[in-house]
Amino acid sequence: MSEQQQDAADAEVETAAAAETDADTEPAAPDEQTSEKLVELAKRRGYFFQSSGAYGGVGGFYTFGPQGAALKGNVEDAWRDRFAVAEGNMEIDAPTIMPEPVFEASGHLDGFDDMLVECPECGESHRADHVVEDNTEYEDAESLPIPEVEEVIAEYELVCPSCGAGLADQAVETFNLMFATNIGPGDSQPGYLRPETAQGIFVEFPRLKEYARNQLPFGVTQIGRAYRNEISPRRSIIRTREFTQAELEYFVDPEEDEPDLADVADVEVTLYPATEQNDDDGSEIETTIGEAVDEGIIGDEWVAYFLGVAKPWYDAVGVDMDRFRFRQHLSGERAHYAADCWDAESEIDGNWIEMAGFAYRSDYDLSKHAEYSEDRFTVFRQYDEPKTVERATVDPDMSYLGPEFGGDAQAVVAELESLAGRDRDAFEDDSVEVELDGERHEIPVEKTGFAVEEQTEAGEHIVPHVVEPSFGVDRLVYTVLHHAYAEDEVDGEERTYLALDPEVAPTFVGVFPLQNDDELEATADEIVANLRDVGLSVTYDDSGNIGRRYRRQDEVGTPFCVTVDYETLENEETTVTVRERDTTAQKRLPVSKLPEIMAELRAGELEFDEL
Ligand code: GAP
Repeated sequence: MSEQQQDAADAEVETAAAAETDADTEPAAPDEQTSEKLVELAKRRGYFFQSSGAYGGVGGFYTFGPQGAALKGNVEDAWRDRFAVAEGNMEIDAPTIMPEPVFEASGHLDGFDDMLVECPECGESHRADHVVEDNTEYEDAESLPIPEVEEVIAEYELVCPSCGAGLADQAVETFNLMFATNIGPGDSQPGYLRPETAQGIFVEFPRLKEYARNQLPFGVTQIGRAYRNEISPRRSIIRTREFTQAELEYFVDPEEDEPDLADVADVEVTLYPATEQNDDDGSEIETTIGEAVDEGIIGDEWVAYFLGVAKPWYDAVGVDMDRFRFRQHLSGERAHYAADCWDAESEIDGNWIEMAGFAYRSDYDLSKHAEYSEDRFTVFRQYDEPKTVERATVDPDMSYLGPEFGGDAQAVVAELESLAGRDRDAFEDDSVEVELDGERHEIPVEKTGFAVEEQTEAGEHIVPHVVEPSFGVDRLVYTVLHHAYAEDEVDGEERTYLALDPEVAPTFVGVFPLQNDDELEATADEIVANLRDVGLSVTYDDSGNIGRRYRRQDEVGTPFCVTVDYETLENEETTVTVRERDTTAQKRLPVSKLPEIMAELRAGELEFDEL
C-alpha cells in the first residue's frame, strides 16, 4: 500500500464513525508524572522551553513558543475582559525599570528577601525554606524566623539537594531578590527591574486619580513583566526570574466604600483559613463568599468580593475546580505591605501552588510614596454637609526665626505647624519647645503667631486604601495546561490530548485536505479563509496521514478539526467532517454554515452535541 493509499484508509477509519464517539475509555487520571510529560510536550509542541538554549540555557528564563504565546495571550485577554473591562477599571502600561528611590519607599530594598543557605561543599545556593519543606513535614517554612529554620536544618540533618553534603552548620542568610541596573552611563543613577507591576501603578497615583476624576473607589490594572532574582528557580515556568503578572490595584475609601457583595455572595468556595492551618485537626472549609464574610472567616469585604469574582473566572479559563482553593497567609508569611492576604492555589501533582494573591495593602504604599516623594497621594473626601471646625495655626515671625535659626528656620516653621496641629496645649505658656535634629529649642509663643480659628471645611484629604488581586500569568498557564492534560485510548492506540477551554486554546480549528489533491486543497484553503474572516484562529495541515494530523492537533489542544474529503466534492450540498477533540465524535456539516457554527462553538453559545 502506498503512503497515499494508507492515508486514505486511515481517513476512512476515522470518518466511518461519523456522529459517534470513538474514544474507548474515560480519560485516565493524570498521574504523578504529569508535570514531566507536560514539560516534554510543551517543548515539542511549542508551548514553552528554556531560553537561550544555544548558549546552554540559563535557569529561570523561559520562552513561550507559538502555541504558548497564543495561549498566554488568550489568558491575558480573558483577564483583561473580566478584571479591567467588566469591572470598569483603567489599564496602564508602565516601564519595567524604575529608579532606586521608588523601591526605597516601597520597602522592597529592605524587605524583599528570601532565605538562602549555601552548600559548604559544592557552593550551590538553595532556598532554605524550600530545603526544609521538601524534606520535612513543615509546609510553610517561609513563615518561620531564620533561627528556627537553622534549627530545623540541623535537627533533621538536611543535606544539599545538589551534592548531598550536610547543611547542618551552615548559616541561613537573607538574599534580596531585586535585579539591579544602572540608568544611563556610569553608576550615578541606580535602577531596578520592578519585582511587581504594582509599583508602576502606585507611583503614578497622583495623575491616575485625576483620570478617575478624584472619585473613589477606582481600579487600575496592568499586565506586564516582573523580575525576581530567585535563589532557586524551579519547576519550569512555576518559579522563574522573569514572569508576567496581571495586577489590579483597587483604591478605596476605607470608611465610606463597600463592594457589591450581593453579586458574589452565592459563589461557592473552598477556603483554608490560617486558623485551620494552625490547628492540627484543621481542614479546608466548603462555604460561600457570603457566609465566609458573615462568619468573619474572610475579614475584609473587598478581598471577599474579588475572591468571588476570581473563582468563576478561573473555572471559565479551565482550572479544575476540584483542584482549586483559596488559602489565607499565615502571619509570618505575609509580604511587608500586606495586612491580610489570601492566595488562589491550584493542585499540581499533589502539591499546592500559588497562582494569585489577594492582599489588603491598606494605605501602606501610598503613604510611603507620599513620605519619600514630593507629590500628593491623597484624594479629597467631600463631607455630606460642610463642617465648622477649630484649627490651630501658626504664622511665625521670620524676622525673629531667621537670625535665630539661620538655614534651619524653615524646618522650625514646619515643626511649629506640626505641633500646633497635634498639641495646641503646647502653646499655652510664654514659650514653646521644638526639637530639631535631637536638640530642643525654646521659642517665645508671641513670635509663633499661634492662633485658634474657626474654619468651615467642605471635606478632608485622605490616603486611599488598596486592595490588590495579583495574578501570576505563567503559573496560571501552567495550571491550565496541567489540568487539561489527558490520556486515553482511541481505536486501540494511546492518545494524549489537552482538553483546553475553547476560550483560551491557541488554535480553535485545524483544517485538513484528506489527500494532496488540487480540488481538496482549494476547498480547504477557502474554508480556512472563511473561518479566519470570522476571527477564528485556524491552522492548515496537509502533511502525514489524517490520523497523525488529528493526534498533532489533540496534543496542542485544538478543540475541532475539519476534514475535506471526496464526499465533500461529490455531494450536492458541500459538507465536511468536523471532529471534536475530547470525544473524537464526528459530524458532517455544510461548508456554507461552518463559519457561523464554529464562531458559536467558540463563543460557548453552542455545544457540539447539540448539532
Ligand atoms: N503585587 C503583589 C505581588 O507581587 P506576589 O504574591 O509576590 O504578590 C503575585 O506575586 C503572583 O505572581 C504570585 O501569586 C505568582 O503567581 C506570581 N509569581 C511570583 N513570583 C513568581 C516567580 N518567581 N515565577 C513565576 N511567577 C511568580
